[in-house]
Amino acid sequence: MKDKLNIVIVGGGSTWCPGILKSLTKHQDIFPLRRVVMFDTDAERQAVIGDFGKILFREEAPGVEFDYTTDKDVAYEDVDFVLCQIRTGGYDMRSKDEKIPLSMGLIGQETVGAGGMAYGIRSMSDMIQIVEDVRARSPKAWIINYTNPAALVAYGLARVFPDERRILNICDQPVNLLRSYGRLLGKDPSNWEPTYFGLNHFGWFTHLYDESGHDLVPDIKEYTKKFGFKPVDAEQRDQSWLDTYAMVADMLDDFPEYLPNTYLQYYLYPKYKVAHLDPNYTRSDEVINGREKRVFEECRRVAKVGTAQGSSVVQNDAHGDMIVEVSSAIYRNTRKTFIVMVRNDGIIKDFPDDAQVEVAASVGVNGPVPYAVGKIDTFYHGLMVNQYSYERLAIEAYLEHSYGKALQALTLNRLVNDGKEARKVLDKLVEANEGYWPELH
Ligand code: NAD
Ligand code: G6P
Ligand code: MN
Repeated sequence: MKDKLNIVIVGGGSTWCPGILKSLTKHQDIFPLRRVVMFDTDAERQAVIGDFGKILFREEAPGVEFDYTTDKDVAYEDVDFVLCQIRTGGYDMRSKDEKIPLSMGLIGQETVGAGGMAYGIRSMSDMIQIVEDVRARSPKAWIINYTNPAALVAYGLARVFPDERRILNICDQPVNLLRSYGRLLGKDPSNWEPTYFGLNHFGWFTHLYDESGHDLVPDIKEYTKKFGFKPVDAEQRDQSWLDTYAMVADMLDDFPEYLPNTYLQYYLYPKYKVAHLDPNYTRSDEVINGREKRVFEECRRVAKVGTAQGSSVVQNDAHGDMIVEVSSAIYRNTRKTFIVMVRNDGIIKDFPDDAQVEVAASVGVNGPVPYAVGKIDTFYHGLMVNQYSYERLAIEAYLEHSYGKALQALTLNRLVNDGKEARKVLDKLVEANEGYWPELH
C-alpha cells in the first residue's frame, strides 16, 4: 500500500464524526494520511462538522488535505479506506423504530427487536448503493462499516456481494466493555486477548487473558457481583446507558458462565425492560437532547472562535480510536486482535456457515483471520440459532420484498414472539417506513 492514505468518511454529518476526525489526526504514526474527505447526502448537516474538521486538521495535521462534499466522484475516487456510518431516515425514523413497538408493549430499540428490523431493512438500499459507488471508483478500497444495525447490514451485504473480501463490519461495544473492565480492575486493557463469540449485539466474553496469561473473567465477575458494573465511556453515561450497564450484574447472577454484551438485556429480560422504558421519551430523544445537541453546538462554537484547541467535542476516544486502530492493523499488517463480524464457516461448530458471527480475529493486510470457537453450549446455541434465523429472514424479506418472510422474522424474534403481535407491529412499521422500505408483497 501507499506511504500515505486517502480516506473517506461516509456519513460525515454523524454525531460520531468529530471523534473519528480527532482520532485520525492523533494517529498519524500508525495511519498516515494524504487526504481525508467527508461525504454525506445532507449538505447542511455535514457542513457543521466539516467546518470543525477544517479547523481541526489545519491545527493538528496541517499536511493532510481535508474537505467535505456531497459529490460521489470527489468522495470515492482513488480512496484506500472508506469509513462508513450512515443513518438512513435519521433520528426521526429512529424515534419511530423505538416508539412504535413500545406503544404495543414490545421492546423498541435502535438495533434489536422490531425496531432493529425496521432500521435494518431501511439501511440496506443505501448500503448497497455505497458499496457499488465505492467499487465503481476504488475497486480495492477497504470498507470499514459500523452502520447499524450492524448484524443485519453485515449479513445483507454478504448476501448481495458474496465475493467481496474488503468489507469489514465492526462494532465498538466489545471495546467499550473491555475499557470498562480495565477501569474497574485498575488495569490497562489495550493488550488483553479476548475470547468472544456471538452475533452482533448478541455475544459473550468467555475468557479474557492479560499479558501474563491470567484469565480476568472470574475477577470481573467477582467485582461486578460486589460493586455492580459501570461504563467507563463518557458517551455512555446517559441514564439509559447507566441502566443498561447495571443490568450486567443481573445477567451474571442468572447466567454466570460468561460476561454478556449489554444488548443481551433486551433478550433476557424483555418484560422488565419494556416496563422500564418510556414510550414517550426513548433513547432517540435522549440523543437529540444530549449527544447530537452537544456535538453540533460545540462544532459551531469552534467554527466561530476559529480554533479547536481545548475543544470538548469528544468525550471519549473509544469509538474513533477503534476504527483507526483496526484500519491501521490492515494497513500495517499488525495481526492485532479485534472483535469483528465474519462469515461463520465453521468457527462456531454446528452453526450455519453463512451467519455473520462476532468473534475475536487477528487483523492484517488480508482482513480478519478469526480464531476458532468450537462447540457452544445448548443455551447459547439455542439463543443464537433463533437470532440468526431472524436475521436471515429479515434480510430475505428485504431482498425478496416478502411480507411473509418479514412476518416470520418478527415471529421468531424473541422480542416479538407472537404471530398476531408480529403482524400488528409489522403493519405499523410498513406504514411508517413508506419510501424507505421496498414494497412488501
Ligand atoms: P447521525 O444521524 O448523527 O449521522 C448519520 C449521518 O449519515 C447523517 O449526517 C446523515 O445525513 C448521513 N446519511 C444518511 N444516509 C446517507 C447516505 N446514503 N449516504 C451518506 N450519508 C448518509 O447518526 P449517528 O448517531 O451519528 O450514527 C451513525 C451510524 O453509526 C448509525 O448507523 C449508528 O447506529 C452507527 N454507529 C454504530 C456503532 C457500532 O458500534 N457499530 C457505533 C456508533 C454508531
Ligand atoms: C454502542 C453500540 C453501537 C451504538 C452506540 C450508540 O456503541 O455498539 O452500535 O450505535 O452504542 O448508541 P446510542 O444509543 O448512544 O446512539
Ligand atoms: Mn454496535
